[in-house]
Amino acid sequence: MSISNQQSRISNPMTTFVQNPNLLKVPLYVAGKSVEEVQEEYGLADVVKMASNENALGPSPMAMAAAQKWLAESHRYPGIAERDLRRAIGPRIHPSLNERNVLIGNGATDVIRMIAQSFVFNGGETVTCKVAFPMYHLFTTMFGGKPVLVPPTPDLRFDLPAIAAAITPDTRLVFLCAPNNPTGLIFSRAEVDDFMSRVPEHVAVVFDEAYFDFVDEEADYGVGTEYVVAGRNAIVVRSFSKSAGLANMRVGYAAAKTELIEYLHHAQLPFNSGAVALAAARASLDDADYARRSKQLAREERKYMYAALDALYVSYVRSQANFVLLTDLPMPAAALAESLIRHGGVVVRPMAAWGMPNAVRMTLGTHAENERFVATLKVVLEDARKN
Ligand SMILES: Cc1ncc(COP(=O)(O)O)c(C=O)c1O
Repeated sequence: MSISNQQSRISNPMTTFVQNPNLLKVPLYVAGKSVEEVQEEYGLADVVKMASNENALGPSPMAMAAAQKWLAESHRYPGIAERDLRRAIGPRIHPSLNERNVLIGNGATDVIRMIAQSFVFNGGETVTCKVAFPMYHLFTTMFGGKPVLVPPTPDLRFDLPAIAAAITPDTRLVFLCAPNNPTGLIFSRAEVDDFMSRVPEHVAVVFDEAYFDFVDEEADYGVGTEYVVAGRNAIVVRSFSKSAGLANMRVGYAAAKTELIEYLHHAQLPFNSGAVALAAARASLDDADYARRSKQLAREERKYMYAALDALYVSYVRSQANFVLLTDLPMPAAALAESLIRHGGVVVRPMAAWGMPNAVRMTLGTHAENERFVATLKVVLEDARKN
């Protein structure tokens, strides 16, 4: 997902309709280009998209079979599928949680929208890191709030003490993201504990864990679940778009204490996810083989990518997700991204809009796709270093 740098413009300033000034402050959303768009624009037959942190394995076979079955019910509004999914998710997160602790969204983006809309009203502030998923501050602006963006530490981590210090009586939400997009970095348990001990009760803390499943088992990973279970104002957000390979289905969820979930329901649109998508998500929870392969691919390919980048003298952030952030590149990110398409049909995400003009984020693909990325990068960098 990418956000245009430009402020939205109204083509006719003499419009007769009344406009929402908060909406006009939100840059127009520009989605990452699809394979088909890049093929058309560059006249290329063979394109590999490594720009949106999708799953290189394709969807889980069990998810596809379930979706197929529900197509025959397309004439009906989604019925029991949502409850089935909530029932399945609750205890999988923690034995003490149930369907009343889960809220389903049309992707995690929609869940973040519901949270922002529920907490940002009559102004109010939200605090997050400047280098993070942009929807936190965009939704805050859209709903008339003030986003407070705290710079990251020099090694691109969330500066949790600075975020705690930025909380004011007007703060409604703090957005944490681990693994963070675009860095792939996580927090340790001690870091999160220390942070949570400083957060006043009136502030709800969102733990965006869209890439949760990719984290190494051995990693010291501070997650939101324990604060949910402890009854804090904590909301865990997860997605079926990444490790479950269902980005096109648009299903995500929030897990929190019942009173918070009941409150967030006020911002939920009726029938916000279709039964085809909900059933696919539900089936993916039982596809242990797919889940294992998905985790394994990310973990093995991270190692491959680090070794390949070391050999090319490219610096990067060690990631706990299915993508890697390449930093300090010897050319502007947009030019590099363009050259990668032209030389190898490889699409990555330039990071200038995140304040990192010389960084790109690449989504790990299959091994063959990653080899292709490395070979193309090598050619592009050799060219750049010669000139
Ligand atoms: C950190 C993070 N959170 C949430 C999302 C939204 O995911 P979706 O709306 O596809 O569930 C993304 C997508 O890229 C993400 O990177």
